[in-house]
Amino acid sequence: MPTLGVNIDHVATLREARLVTYPDPVTAAALAELAGAACIVVHLREDRRHIKDRDLAILRETVQTALNMEMAATEEMVAIACRIKPDCATLVPEKREELTTEGGLDVRGNCARVEAAVKALIGAGIKVSLFIDPDREQIQASRDVGGDAVEIHTGLYCDARSAEAQEAELAKVQAAAKEAHTLGLEVKAGHGLHYGNVLPIAAIPQIKELSIGHSIVARAVLVGMVQAVRDMIFLIQQPPRAPGQR
Ligand code: PXP
Repeated sequence: MPTLGVNIDHVATLREARLVTYPDPVTAAALAELAGAACIVVHLREDRRHIKDRDLAILRETVQTALNMEMAATEEMVAIACRIKPDCATLVPEKREELTTEGGLDVRGNCARVEAAVKALIGAGIKVSLFIDPDREQIQASRDVGGDAVEIHTGLYCDARSAEAQEAELAKVQAAAKEAHTLGLEVKAGHGLHYGNVLPIAAIPQIKELSIGHSIVARAVLVGMVQAVRDMIFLIQQPPRAPGQR
């Protein structure tokens, strides 16, 4: 059963909607941890649209579980990570105009740049995860550049418009998880997961951690962070059901 990494970027999005000091993602992180989160995830974007350098620095001091910093493989971000030393860095593609991360990192097409970032981060004692599409070549490339883990992008599974399309995307995530595990990579997954679609992904045996943000923060606005995190952990840590069992 996977553990839950809670991405608190959108607590900061709400703060930045009014350019004020609340709600504070640092408080949200503490509540998520009290509710059972195994890890706190933040994405320090180049444009600082939600999480700020200040948040990352304070979270490094206050997070009691593990801090996972999502980041582009740029010199600026690698330097920040090497100074702050999150427990894990997740390399993601980043485009200024996107609403959220779109698609996985092209590790294969950017081997040299990604490998340099991985080396620097690992040299600073930071575990490195690569956010990739469920694609064989990207998994192999992630292993080749020296990554410790992959986070399989579940966006296409989540966005599928029909049950058949969703089944097909689920099969790709399942195969990718198996492949990455066989190559000795730790396997995580995330993006677009919510209370209604998470179960089949949580049931994939090789996946050790799910990284979930928007749906948890959205529920937290209505029921509180502790309840929202507990609800998600309850779902993803259900014992597997026998075939045909409802
Ligand atoms: N994993 C990665 C690499 C991401 O970039 C994001 C979005 O920041 C997530 C997981 C969480 O996605 P969501 O907010 O849709 O749950």
